[in-house]
Amino acid sequence: VINAVTKSAEDTRELGTALAAVVGPGDVVLLAGDLGSGKTTFAQGLARGLGVDEQVTSPTFVLMRSYTGRVELFHVDAYRFDQLQEIIDLGLPEVLDDGGVAMIEWGDVVAPALPADFLEVRLEYRESDDERAVQLRSVGTPWAARRTALQRSVERWCI
Ligand SMILES: Nc1ncnc2c1ncn2[C@@H]1O[C@H](COP(=O)(O)OP(=O)(O)O)[C@@H](O)[C@H]1O
Ligand SMILES: [Mg+2]
Repeated sequence: VINAVTKSAEDTRELGTALAAVVGPGDVVLLAGDLGSGKTTFAQGLARGLGVDEQVTSPTFVLMRSYTGRVELFHVDAYRFDQLQEIIDLGLPEVLDDGGVAMIEWGDVVAPALPADFLEVRLEYRESDDERAVQLRSVGTPWAARRTALQRSVERWCI
């Protein structure tokens, strides 16, 4: 687990952008944390880092939005999903096979329907209003191989 801290929303965006250096085709990034902890904010930064120029907004009411950057980027908000089947119906495995990248908010709930390899980004409130603790945890062999690169990319925010 890598422990980082951000000090503002823009700081969290920049962390997401920095992480794009180690994210590529077929990757899943799970965004965990309470409402308002900064999952969408982080997703905006990651999208920017993946070359998406379009504004990234919360997909809460549409379940999934897609963007084109260096890769096809899919942004899912599973908050409103009440059945696992709904996320299965999104066809994420196919999208990932085709080289897409998925960012999934509220990842805990949907984890059983997802590929076995992923990077989890968990955001938590800290005492100061504009600070967030950001825990990065990777699961699976493809991520283990990128461990050093991952650590380097977020060094600036590490505590
Ligand atoms: N360090 C920080 N990182 C991320 N967001 C922050 C931070 N400090 C304050 N904020 C604010 O918290 C809110 C996070 O909202 P959002 O990213 O939509 O959260 P979520 O998607 O987890 O519900 C935004 O209003 C943002 O400006
Ligand atoms: Mg959100």
